[in-house]
Amino acid sequence: MALSTPPKRSLSGIQPSGSVHIGNYLGMIKPALELQKDFECIYFIVDFHALTSEHSGKKIHEYTLDLVATWLSLGLDVTKHIFYRQSDVPFVAEYTWYLSCFTGMGLLEKCHAYKDKIAQGITPSHALFAYPVLMAADILMYEPDIVPVGKDQKQHVEVARDIAGSLNANFGEGFVKVPTPVINEEVMLIPGLDGRKMSKSYNNTIPLFADEKTLEKLVMSIKTDSTALEEPKDLNGSLVGQLFALFGTPAQYNDLKERMLRGGMGWGHAKKELFQVINDQLSKPRSEYLKLRSDEKHLLNVLDAGADRAKEIALVQLNKLRTTFGFKPAA
Ligand code: TRP
Repeated sequence: MALSTPPKRSLSGIQPSGSVHIGNYLGMIKPALELQKDFECIYFIVDFHALTSEHSGKKIHEYTLDLVATWLSLGLDVTKHIFYRQSDVPFVAEYTWYLSCFTGMGLLEKCHAYKDKIAQGITPSHALFAYPVLMAADILMYEPDIVPVGKDQKQHVEVARDIAGSLNANFGEGFVKVPTPVINEEVMLIPGLDGRKMSKSYNNTIPLFADEKTLEKLVMSIKTDSTALEEPKDLNGSLVGQLFALFGTPAQYNDLKERMLRGGMGWGHAKKELFQVINDQLSKPRSEYLKLRSDEKHLLNVLDAGADRAKEIALVQLNKLRTTFGFKPAA
């Protein structure tokens, strides 16, 4: 019998920082879930990271449960893959310290996310500055092959690669696996209701599981030009068209595009159809989400089971470092 090679590993983290919107879904969650077919997936909720901007334990707890229900409702298979909460495997904080000892200040000073926050006038904490080191620990401890992230997180994965390089230079090539970021180029920038990047800070999001009425109202509020009804309109390059392309099939897109070009169809009609394709894709997971979200005990059990499996993997790299430093292995 031929020996089969073990599947490669995909790993990513998501912040419990408020309601999930379709930008999060298309840009990160959906591509990460598609990798379930070919990869062993390890996904987790980064509540330690959330503390850099949110100090309400109650909110972090609620947002965490929202995320578990969201990922499950969208098809995450926790019988095959690992889904856990960062704070349930606190070894990562210890591992972060070790990595800090191999991280130059200059590497962190270059980080755009940090510089952007300062530019917004936020008084930086040490944690905000060290955020990429905790993220590197999340990654390196589990030795993934790939790390699917949004474009804004690519530099942080590169920091993790640099830190891995520094461990390997000190302790020998192959001491820790160097991860590769994977950015889904097609859906890099999901536009929000006003055409800017969809982001909570711009107040232009469409919540992933908004109820049907709210979803319709939000879609109808998308800004369009005031070309007269009978005039031909070009779906290409319009905001409605961009969003339609993300949810509709190419055939649906071309059909709408042709009808718009013929004239006699207003943007209002196009937005109704956009609402329809979004709703068609989300209505089933939405009702699944509502069902799951009402059963907190089940959601917490899912997290506990995930943490048990994650811990086993995490201990391998942690103890490799502990032994290297002459410390007693952790159990
Ligand atoms: N910083 C990431 C974000 O805000 C979340 C994150 C934390 C992460 N640890 C990670 C992503 C490890 C990938 C891998 O989106």
